[in-house]
Amino acid sequence: MYRVSPYSENLRYNPALYITSSFIMKIMLAPMEGVVDSYLRDILTNIGGYDLCVTEFVRVVDQLLPSKVFKRFCPELENESKTAAGTPVIVQLLGSDPEAMAANAVRAMELGAPGIDLNFGCPAKCVNKRNGGSYLLQEPQRLFNIISAVRTSVEDSIPVSAKIRLGFENTDLALDIARAVEDAGASYVTVHARTKADGYKAPARWEWLAKVNDVLSIPMIANGDINSVDDYRRCVEISGCENIMIGRGAVARPDLARQIRNFQNNTPEALMSWNEVLILLIDMSNVMTNDVKTRYIVSRTKQWLAMLKREYPEANDCFTVIRKMKDYKEVQQSLNDQLNSL
Ligand SMILES: Cc1cc2nc3c(=O)[nH]c(=O)nc-3n(C[C@H](O)[C@H](O)[C@H](O)COP(=O)(O)O)c2cc1C
Repeated sequence: MYRVSPYSENLRYNPALYITSSFIMKIMLAPMEGVVDSYLRDILTNIGGYDLCVTEFVRVVDQLLPSKVFKRFCPELENESKTAAGTPVIVQLLGSDPEAMAANAVRAMELGAPGIDLNFGCPAKCVNKRNGGSYLLQEPQRLFNIISAVRTSVEDSIPVSAKIRLGFENTDLALDIARAVEDAGASYVTVHARTKADGYKAPARWEWLAKVNDVLSIPMIANGDINSVDDYRRCVEISGCENIMIGRGAVARPDLARQIRNFQNNTPEALMSWNEVLILLIDMSNVMTNDVKTRYIVSRTKQWLAMLKREYPEANDCFTVIRKMKDYKEVQQSLNDQLNSL
């Protein structure tokens, strides 16, 4: 099922070049805490279309974290920081202490991360209370200090990027934030087209992406509410930005990136069938059986099904059948039975 990326082998071989070369359209898989872990990254990049993945955020307070923490968030570090399909995975850090962020970025780099992304978008209260995530959008100078500390500490060949929102309460500082990111030496910036106050409310403010892009000379990645090929087309039209990151849409529609890629290549394809999606769910739970707590398999399967409901009515029925199940074997049996009855 996996289709080899149309890009040159040289770019694929050198992740740093691959990430920052700005002449080709990029599709990134968004970091999603508790959702897009190494299992889902493997499945989605194997379907194809993605150029790059970002880990869930690694929380940095004031300590240098042990290697095992990085490997827990990014098991791909044991595989040259690539998914099984060969897609590079960069490590995301979240924190507000420039020195600690820099030290941990160096550690991630030494462990093989081909890029470091800094999270300035997380809206969670517990994170914001400690001056992390989107809280820092209120103080572009602090954001600048953190990015510059990381930039000057890791090797030049390692891209350092920031993931921002348009602001905290409102968009007043959106352009200042973008400039601070660029001035601090970031290689590129991902902009989630919402403020912290917007939460995840639709619609994302794609028109703001164009304003931010206008003040930047580094590449920008557009993010927020790209849930279909048509959304992609409209987002590019409104934002003027060809590089995108997809989050919830990637989970609800596992072949979304490939569909966008094929649309770009004038070879549109139909949505992946429910049958194929069910096989992915079964595959994920089988792979997990070898190395995670079985309780986790049940909750992850239900979580993915809940997100798939947006695109697949069948996911709703499937969810109803397994909703009360607690035993992973029972869940796996039920998924297999449902597949066999199709
Ligand atoms: C459950 C969940 C977890 C998320 N975790 C992270 C995270 O760890 N780091 C981050 O930068 N953004 C995180 N985000 C934000 C997404 O990366 C993305 O910016 C957001 O969902 C908007 O994109 P979308 O509309 O394509 O989903 C998370 C979003 C969700 C819904």
